[in-house]
Amino acid sequence: MIKAAITGWGGYVPNNQVNNHFLTTIVDTSDDWIKTRTGIKTRYISTGENTSQLALKAAAQALKQSNLEAADLDLIIVATVTPDSFTPATACLVQAELGASKAFAFDVTAGCSGFIYGLNIAASFIENGKVKNALVIGAEVLTKVTDWTDRNTCVLFGDGAGAVVLQPSYYKGILASYCGSAGDKEGLLTIPAVPVRNPFVSEQPAASVISMQGQKVFKFAVKAMRKSIDKVLEDGNCKFADIKYVIPHQANTRIIDFVARKMRVDKQKFYRNIESLGNTSAATIPLAFNEMLSQGLLNKGDKIIMVGFGGGLTWGAVLVEL
Ligand code: UT7
Repeated sequence: MIKAAITGWGGYVPNNQVNNHFLTTIVDTSDDWIKTRTGIKTRYISTGENTSQLALKAAAQALKQSNLEAADLDLIIVATVTPDSFTPATACLVQAELGASKAFAFDVTAGCSGFIYGLNIAASFIENGKVKNALVIGAEVLTKVTDWTDRNTCVLFGDGAGAVVLQPSYYKGILASYCGSAGDKEGLLTIPAVPVRNPFVSEQPAASVISMQGQKVFKFAVKAMRKSIDKVLEDGNCKFADIKYVIPHQANTRIIDFVARKMRVDKQKFYRNIESLGNTSAATIPLAFNEMLSQGLLNKGDKIIMVGFGGGLTWGAVLVEL
């Protein structure tokens, strides 16, 4: 059976690194609180680059790595909750800049699980033979929808993009995948878009910024990640011991610790880079994957699990043989 193999990868963050001390100058917080409650020490914040520009930089690296030309691409998916515009899709902006004229391109909105959803969609197109070369990007400029007066959320987020190229293979690739949603819990994590504003509506619209019930999302996250890991292990006929690394969504290092503890597995198998990048939503997983490859932590034949959760609520995982 044809599988979707990862053949290229890339990652990019803006060059403006912001430490916790800076945040203490704008909200009532401390370096100690942020470090001990989240694991975050720094994050990178855009000084003007929008989501498509970050996505483009990650995409160019992924293409180069896979030895493909932009013209070879059949599909471009950008997972984001912070697109440049409602239309055109950020994926279309990336397509135009790359010159990937043969591809069809669209965005996926699935909160911080967006990259996992994007991988699932692209893999399905490859597995059914309709697409050969797919580019999947997770890209966010979350800081443009951050409420900079809310200490509960503004200390958590950063900007960035990560990308992978997927191609058909008989030998390796995505062995199992899983996605879930719970729309009835939508209120736990929201970023409102444009409200109805017309001559028949008099209400003042709510600001388009992130709001979150942190503790409830925390509890959901632990359950959702565990369930997603178990599901892809079962569907992929693997044991946890067969997995070299889990690459979890980077929202809080304590969430990752809890998942490992509940599963009674070695927490060192869960890769983390939240300390330096913060939570970049749909970009955390491909950024971590790119970083791990550049550090030589992953080799051909390794099995890994990428697992995420986020607003929607949404969750999901993929089990990949590299
Ligand atoms: O990407 C997916 C979405 N995001 C997440 O998955 C995040 C999930 N949630 C979390 O990671 C955690 O719930 C947070 C990091 C958001 C919050 O940590 P917590 O340990 O759950 O703290 P809390 O909300 O229970 O707040 C504890 C205290 C409160 O003060 P009181 O009421 O005990 O006096 C908060 O007001 O900490 C206070 N607090 C802060 N203090 C200093 C909240 N934010 C801050 C802050 N600095 N930045």
